[in-house]
Amino acid sequence: MRLLTVVLPTYNESKNIPILIERLTKVLAKIDYEILVVDDNSPDKTYEVVDQIGSKNSRVRCIRRIHERGLSSAVMTGMASSSAKFYAVMDADLQHDEAILPGLLKAVNEEGFDLAVGSRAAEDGSFGEFSRLRRFISWTATMLAKMLLPVNVKDPMSGYFMVSREIFQQAEEKINPLGFKILLEFLGRVPGLKVKEVGYTFRNRVHGETKLSGSVIRNYIVALMDLRFGHLVSPIFVLYCLVGASGIIVYIVTVAIGDSLGMPLIRDVWPAPFNALPSSWLLGFGLSVTNNYVWNNYITFHERRHKSLALLAGFATFFLISLIGLLIQTSVSYLLAATGLFATHAGSGINRAIGITVAVITNYYLNLNFTWRKTRR
Ligand code: GDD
Ligand code: MN
Repeated sequence: MRLLTVVLPTYNESKNIPILIERLTKVLAKIDYEILVVDDNSPDKTYEVVDQIGSKNSRVRCIRRIHERGLSSAVMTGMASSSAKFYAVMDADLQHDEAILPGLLKAVNEEGFDLAVGSRAAEDGSFGEFSRLRRFISWTATMLAKMLLPVNVKDPMSGYFMVSREIFQQAEEKINPLGFKILLEFLGRVPGLKVKEVGYTFRNRVHGETKLSGSVIRNYIVALMDLRFGHLVSPIFVLYCLVGASGIIVYIVTVAIGDSLGMPLIRDVWPAPFNALPSSWLLGFGLSVTNNYVWNNYITFHERRHKSLALLAGFATFFLISLIGLLIQTSVSYLLAATGLFATHAGSGINRAIGITVAVITNYYLNLNFTWRKTRR
């Protein structure tokens, strides 16, 4: 059995990968290792560059994935396709210092640690010239992780670590391979790991660019909620509720402003009793539905979001479902009031709250199945 497989996830790293492989060959000269590049069919044909090197160097192998995308999932694919005793994971863009690899290996192979982390926050470690914005994102992500999970690693956002095959097998089925935070998944899914942090200085990227994007950050938050509360409630539903809450704020503010500006009642246009409604109400409803649609489309249902023309159909469906929700909410409140179970007035706090709760849940499922239904590719 091979001692070490170095898993290198790549997306458009054709300029970096030959340099990294050369450096790894030097650092790992005394070790029984293999380099496994997992490339997601990069447009710059990184996989071809690796295959070329692999044809002359039997330690180098490439998996080209066509139908899957994502850093964490590439790492999982790499680990699952090798039976080495230990796996190293590192970025292929030369930002991780390969010089500490032997130190990481020693920690898991000789010093009895379950996991070794290449750490920018540990002693001898540094974020280097990481931009202020990126440092802030990393800091916030780390804070959130520490607040929600029992993690006492200083750099849980590191994409540089080493782990045994044994631990990988324990984590494999539980890991959510979405996004960038693969180390956090290990730390969160396998409690009680003995972890060593080895400091290194994060380097600047020279070739190519980062793939960290808004959607990676959104997926991170979903994944954190899933790690912490996933056994209780779906993180997508939580996001949906948060968006709904923002819609209520939009509604209240609009109506308050509208009323203070003296917006008129909807007279003449609609039949009784609707003609007694203030037009500020109509505006508030419209704006809050629009607000909810936009946030749900870009955040809650990000993977299934509508683009260009589909936005119109999506918004129309969402609007219709919101009207149905309004109908459900008022009917439930009025019915409850009629039974007099809690209070006899439909507008009373409790009747209204129950109406809203029922409508939120039915609308969630309606939106899940209609507005943002899964489309088959
Ligand atoms: N196969 C595959 N598929 N590889 C990917 C993908 C993908 O969808 N997205 C990124 N990669 C590869 C890149 O080619 C690179 O080798 C490595 O994953 C890291 O990607 P970067 O885009 O360079 O990430 P970063 O430098 O912004 O983020 C790094 O630092 C973060 C903490 O600040 C990574 O190490 C993250 O894991 C880490 O959380
Ligand atoms: Mn990078």
